[in-house]
Amino acid sequence: MNTGSSILDARPVASEEISWIEEGMRGVGFFSTLARAQLREVLPYMLMLRYAKGALICVEGDPGDAMYLIYHGGVVITKKGWREPVARLKDGDFFGEMALLFGEPRSATVATDEETEVFCLAAEDFRRIVARSPDMTLTLRALAETRRRELAQS
Ligand code: CMP
Repeated sequence: MNTGSSILDARPVASEEISWIEEGMRGVGFFSTLARAQLREVLPYMLMLRYAKGALICVEGDPGDAMYLIYHGGVVITKKGWREPVARLKDGDFFGEMALLFGEPRSATVATDEETEVFCLAAEDFRRIVARSPDMTLTLRALAETRRRELAQS
C-alpha cells in the first residue's frame, strides 16, 4: 500500500466518518452498491490514509496489496503508452480493485492530484469481505471489467 514518505497520516476510520459515510455517501459511487449492514462490516477493517499532492498510491506493474475509496480529494490514473490520463477519480470513487479481483499486477498508476484522504482496505480483508458479499463482488467485478475494456483501447 505504498507506505512511502508521501503518506501524511494513517489511522483507523473514526466513528464520525462512519456516520458521515452512512448518512451522506451511500448514494455515491462505490458506497451505493453496499447495503448498510455490508458497509458496517467493511469500515472497521479500513485505514484512513492522507496523502500529499503528487503521491503515487498504486504503480503500474506492482503487485496489488490493497484497494482504496476516496474520502476527500482526487487522483489521476495513467498508463504507459497513453498520451492522456485514463481517468480522474474523486470523492466516493474507488480504485485498486482490479489487481485484487483479477489476481494481476496493478493495471495502471494512480497518483494524487491534490492532498487526498482515502480509506484503504488491505487485500486479505478485501478477500474476506468478498467471500461473504456476493452482491458487492458482482457489482465490483462488473465495474472492473468495464475499466479493463477501457484500458485495452489504447
Ligand atoms: P489496479 O489495477 O489494482 O490498480 C490501478 C487502478 O486504476 C485499477 O486497479 C483501477 O482501480 C484503476 N483503473 C484502471 N483503469 C481504469 C479506468 N479505465 N477507469 C477508472 N479507473 C481505472
